[in-house]
Amino acid sequence: MISANLFFLSSTISLAVDGITPSQSVLDGTTLVSSDGSFELGFFSPGSSKNRYLGIWFKNVPVRTVVWVANRCNPINDSSGVLMINSTGNLVLLSQNSSVVWSTSLVKQAQNATVELLDSGNLVLRDAKDGNSGTPLWQSFDYPSDTLLPGMKLGWDLRTGLKRHLSAWKNSEDPCPGDFTYGIEMQLQAYPEAYILNGITKFFRTSAWNELTICGSPEHPSPRYSFNFVYNDDEVYVTYKPKIESILSRVALNQTTSTCARFQWKVGDQDWQDFSSRPTESCDYYGFCGANGNCTSEDPVCKCIQGFSPKSQEKWNLADWSLGCVRNKPLSCHEGDKDEFLKFDGFKLPDTTNSWVDKSMNLKECRDKCLKNCSCTAYTSSDIGGGSGGCTIWFGDLIDIKQVPVAGKEIYIRTSAAEIVNNEGENSRKVKIAIIVVGIAIVFSGVLLVGYVIRRRKRKNKGYS
Ligand SMILES: *[C@@H]1O[C@H](CO)[C@@H](O)[C@H](O)[C@H]1NC(C)=O
Ligand SMILES: *[C@@H]1O[C@H](CO)[C@@H](O)[C@H](O)[C@H]1NC(C)=O
Ligand SMILES: *[C@@H]1O[C@H](CO)[C@@H](O)[C@H](O)[C@H]1NC(C)=O
Ligand SMILES: *[C@@H]1O[C@H](CO)[C@@H](O)[C@H](O)[C@H]1NC(C)=O
Ligand SMILES: *[C@@H]1O[C@H](CO)[C@@H](O)[C@H](O)[C@H]1NC(C)=O
Ligand SMILES: *[C@@H]1O[C@H](CO)[C@@H](O)[C@H](O)[C@H]1NC(C)=O
Ligand SMILES: *[C@@H]1O[C@H](CO)[C@@H](O)[C@H](O)[C@H]1NC(C)=O
Repeated sequence: MISANLFFLSSTISLAVDGITPSQSVLDGTTLVSSDGSFELGFFSPGSSKNRYLGIWFKNVPVRTVVWVANRCNPINDSSGVLMINSTGNLVLLSQNSSVVWSTSLVKQAQNATVELLDSGNLVLRDAKDGNSGTPLWQSFDYPSDTLLPGMKLGWDLRTGLKRHLSAWKNSEDPCPGDFTYGIEMQLQAYPEAYILNGITKFFRTSAWNELTICGSPEHPSPRYSFNFVYNDDEVYVTYKPKIESILSRVALNQTTSTCARFQWKVGDQDWQDFSSRPTESCDYYGFCGANGNCTSEDPVCKCIQGFSPKSQEKWNLADWSLGCVRNKPLSCHEGDKDEFLKFDGFKLPDTTNSWVDKSMNLKECRDKCLKNCSCTAYTSSDIGGGSGGCTIWFGDLIDIKQVPVAGKEIYIRTSAAEIVNNEGENSRKVKIAIIVVGIAIVFSGVLLVGYVIRRRKRKNKGYS
């Protein structure tokens, strides 16, 4: 074990260790390195700032890429920072005069805690008596900054109420959280989805259907990453890993670019390559076409869902979609079974904030459930965590629908039967017109034929006479 007095050297020294015990500390100018040399923990100043932060970065990437910061909003203004384990087992970051800049807050005390920087980039605090197994007392992966690394969970531990989400840096000089966050939102009984929020405003939604990807869209399945979405009574989260595990990768939320992006380190270029950045196209922006709008790949991109019309035709014509669409015909609702459902295939399904999920119902039961509730506007059978069957019903306006021809899902949208009768009326009118046209054609050719026969007869009569 290394003794504390070794740390009084001025230049940055990578300790030959990946962790510390209560008798040791990490001073500004020294670092911990994970055992395989992938990640490094120490003090840094972002950009041209003079402020000092405790952080973790990729050890072998020459462009300093910080993946986690401890004292995000509480910088140290000199090189007095020191990280240590205090007598109750908490990890504490102290500055001048031993004032606490940042610390963990353990619920139970640990007499003999150790902290270790793992090869995954996770900083883990354990009680020595627990060994290397079991749940750590604390881990940095539970408190993400702006970056998700392979194996990190984005989502909830429902048993403890812990929410792990990304929050962007204010800017490249200030790691304090800005306005952009990215995480899974949970509503009672509703299907969980991941959103980028700008403050409290939804900015981008990753639909959880099929598979919850991270910073992606369902129509672009990733050839480079695999995702694992877990949704059960204990936990709701998504993780990712690159298919080639030796590749360095990260997912980062960036306020300056207003994007969430997946990056891979390109050894040849010695730079990060951005493989999937969201949002990119108009339909990615949350609710781009307004309530009951249908975002398509056509021009103009916004249409109303079938059976709906622009709330303000005037604004809609000016490409202001914000007011969205309203029903042409009200639902009959309580008048029993007068409403019908139109089936649509190939969609990013509507926002599930106002939805209700039952994993055991079949499609028929789901339809009946929807018909029984006046505010139900759509249903689908949901594939939850790779399972099949189940029922999701939506209430009220349908928001953030996008046409996704390749990997989209099906949805049954409630519509007034009157609406359908009208369409059928139109169709039968078309059929009638077609019958009349064909009829006229037949009569006309009949007349021609008769004329021809008569003329032939006349010619015959003349010839033989
Ligand atoms: C650094 O911060 C301390 C208190 O946190 C303050 O007393 C001191 O004046 C600051 N030093 C500089 C150079 O700003
Ligand atoms: C350091 O702490 C001591 C005791 O708490 C206090 O008397 C002293 O004023 C502090 N000095 C600074 C520079 O904050
Ligand atoms: C250890 O740090 C925690 C968190 O800052 C604090 O609550 C606790 O009082 C500290 N223990 C001691 C003995 O200083
Ligand atoms: C603390 O851990 C060290 C080695 O990690 C061990 O030698 C010592 O007995 C432990 N002390 C207690 C009180 O568990
Ligand atoms: C955000 O992206 C811009 C442009 O790629 C980059 O210069 C900046 O450093 C990024 N910000 C953070 C905090 O990484
Ligand atoms: C959305 O628009 C597309 C393209 O016009 C159409 O194929 C699809 O049926 C529409 N979906 C709904 C729900 O109206
Ligand atoms: C219909 O659903 C809404 C939203 O979940 C709920 O508040 C209401 O009680 C339901 N109505 C009936 C009759 O079940």
